[in-house]
Amino acid sequence: MGIETSCDETAAAVVEDGGVILSNQVASQVEIHARYGGVVPEVASRQHVLAAVPVIEQAMAEAGIGWGDLDGIAVTIGPGLAGSLLVGVNVAKALSLARSLPLAGVNHLEGHIYANWLNGGGVVFPVVCLIVSGGHSDLVLMRGHGDYVVVGRTRDDAAGEAFDKAARILGLGYPGGPAIERAARDGADCLKLPRAWLPGSYDFSFSGVKTALLRLEQGAKISSLADAAASFQAAVVEVLVTKTVAAAREYRVGSILLAGGVAANQCLRERLTQESPVPVLVPEPWLCTDNAAMIAAAGYYHLQAGRVDGPGLDVIPGLKLA
Ligand code: KG4
Ligand code: ZN
Repeated sequence: MGIETSCDETAAAVVEDGGVILSNQVASQVEIHARYGGVVPEVASRQHVLAAVPVIEQAMAEAGIGWGDLDGIAVTIGPGLAGSLLVGVNVAKALSLARSLPLAGVNHLEGHIYANWLNGGGVVFPVVCLIVSGGHSDLVLMRGHGDYVVVGRTRDDAAGEAFDKAARILGLGYPGGPAIERAARDGADCLKLPRAWLPGSYDFSFSGVKTALLRLEQGAKISSLADAAASFQAAVVEVLVTKTVAAAREYRVGSILLAGGVAANQCLRERLTQESPVPVLVPEPWLCTDNAAMIAAAGYYHLQAGRVDGPGLDVIPGLKLA
């Protein structure tokens, strides 16, 4: 069983052998936080307390198994909101003690990567993983299960954050990624927005392209929302794809993995697949956003490697991958 409460979704899932989803339940708090214009941490913690047990019971019911059929409990310990993480970790510890099940504390980003094992496999190590979400843009070299080297990361905004800010500038609403993608369908990359290449580094920077868009908007130089959205998306995707492909060549990888909420972006998926010298694995769109099946998959490989956590397991809100 996987349990995920790092931000504003309360999620529980049952996964068999690290790859077969038996159930995947997500209770979203998006509407509650929308009233405040963003996630309110104290409200999120209280919602997790209310939702955790029902969501876990639903995941068990959907899987159609009994408690005695579980082999372990995996739970997100970070990065995320401390109060939110604490709810999931304490429920997981209680279940682990009550049912004498081994416990695995999982990094949320590791979970996003392992969403790729829920596709039916095909991962050939070493791989480079591009993790692009609302909070992260990391390029990670993975040489085996649990073995991560972060080779590049954003120096300012995360890719998803940049999509959200660009959508706000253009008045396209929240969440910004899907809104930009929809608007971009009828547009062309004709605004010539800047790309931050940061030569010699696999790091990213997305604040410049966002500011360039803001200047154009302030100067009333945007005549087509569709062209603006398409130009912004093209600028972000071009940098992500070029650096990921360069890293794949340098490290002679067997496959490229996409992960995180921005991996749902069709333009990113298509361009990366076109330009990559090796197979590109991308989770189904509904497994790119926060869920507990990906946490269960990652936890399975922890337990396989004998990495069992005890009752002293604690949350680490600022947890890093490597
Ligand atoms: O992984 P995720 O669900 O939550 C975090 O852990 O951050 O990612 C959410 C982010 C948001 O910034 C959202 O705008 C972005 O992923 N996103 C997209 C798309 N769908 C979601 N960005 C671009 N294109 C999309 N289709
Ligand atoms: Zn996430």
